[in-house]
Amino acid sequence: MTTEVEFFPATSQDKPEHSPDEVSSKAFWNQTSEQRDERFARLRAEDPVSWQRPVEEAVAPDPNDPGYWAVVKHADIVTTSRDNQSFINGQGVLFDLLPADFLEMSQSFMAMDAPRQPMLRKLVSTAFTPRRIKTIDEQIRVAAREVVDSFASDPSGEIDFVDRCAEPLPVRMFGDMFGVPDELRAQTARAAGDVVAWADPERIGDRHPAEVGMQACQTLHGIAAQLIADRRRDPGEDLFTGLVQAEVDGRKLTDAEIGAFFVLMSVAGTDTTKHTASFTVRAFTDFRDQQRWLMEDYDARITVAIEEFVRFASPVMTFRRTATRETELAGRKILPGDKVVMFYPSGNRDADVFADPDRFDLARDPNPHVGFGGGGAHFCLGNQLAKGMLRALFHELLTRIPEFEAGEPELLGTNFMRGVKRMPFRFTPER
Ligand code: HEM
Repeated sequence: MTTEVEFFPATSQDKPEHSPDEVSSKAFWNQTSEQRDERFARLRAEDPVSWQRPVEEAVAPDPNDPGYWAVVKHADIVTTSRDNQSFINGQGVLFDLLPADFLEMSQSFMAMDAPRQPMLRKLVSTAFTPRRIKTIDEQIRVAAREVVDSFASDPSGEIDFVDRCAEPLPVRMFGDMFGVPDELRAQTARAAGDVVAWADPERIGDRHPAEVGMQACQTLHGIAAQLIADRRRDPGEDLFTGLVQAEVDGRKLTDAEIGAFFVLMSVAGTDTTKHTASFTVRAFTDFRDQQRWLMEDYDARITVAIEEFVRFASPVMTFRRTATRETELAGRKILPGDKVVMFYPSGNRDADVFADPDRFDLARDPNPHVGFGGGGAHFCLGNQLAKGMLRALFHELLTRIPEFEAGEPELLGTNFMRGVKRMPFRFTPER
């Protein structure tokens, strides 16, 4: 049975103020994760596929935008993710409304559908298979060791975890895989961070959010242009050379296409893993017994445990699809052209799937979380790499500096990435 809903008159002058209860409101995203989780829990129970007004104070508001369906239950997120015929990415994937030129420069195959999406994805996908990630396992371990070396014996016993520990490993691995020269890595990481931080007041300062995103994209396209010129002159073994040489649909990729590819990969590949590491170290502080449990047999337990790291952190909070045909989700009739937004952290706290969902439970098995997406054509390409990095980083951390305490995380103010800007980390230094 389907239920009709009354749409909010989006263009009407007398529309009510947004309330903090609405997932479209700015106030909703300015709350703590726990407050948001409470609201999601109510939506899951009472209105699992609810009609919502457009995002409040969108970066590029569209007066004709009627709103979207908010999908908050695990099962519906999985259905939406896997039905790539009924729910497509080609009409945009971000929850916020952003300028077209920014989207063009940043989303690449994440905002495409078949047949082009699988063709572009295939250009790099062999580098991310479990077998291939295993071959670079040693490289990841060495990198993780060096990251922890850089602070483990610091006599102050205090660092900013994000800056000194969570960020350097993914930035280095991304740089190695794409052949980004050392001197451009910090700039790449900074720009990739800005691409997702378009709504964070501290990060944008007195600039317009659209300007921050565009500047970051231009920086990354500039770096990509240098790499393109370099690889044309002097091809190597890295992924970037593969992109420069590839033919898709009988033609080479343009510089702009490679640039957008580079933006997508740099954002997807660095910020997500970094935030997961930060939330995980904080979870170990809050759930001490879990550290003890894991360290009783790290190698045997870490594979299962990492899934819980990702479920618990859920750094990617939202992605959107557009319906291509009339269909049904949780009894709601979805019409062609309707926007559908998935809220991954909500799916990951769904008590129908996860017993005691607010508990960080490393032995949770099976753990069918949707932190990497709900499956389907766009399921996270880098999930094996992310897990390889987390496994190596936490092995170093938990064996070398097992006595630590993560302080209160300072959260990024956006509705896209659940991110940590800074987090104090105190530890007993390694001798
Ligand atoms: C813990 C870390 C990570 C998390 C939580 C995460 C999460 C996600 C999510 C939720 C999606 C969207 C899935 C969908 O729409 O169905 C995604 C897509 C993607 N991720 Fe990740 N990701 C992580 C790490 C990485 C890494 C390390 C890379 C690569 C270097 C990467 C590359 C990608 C790419 C390229 C896509 C787009 C795939 C496509 O459209 O075909 N991710 N990721």
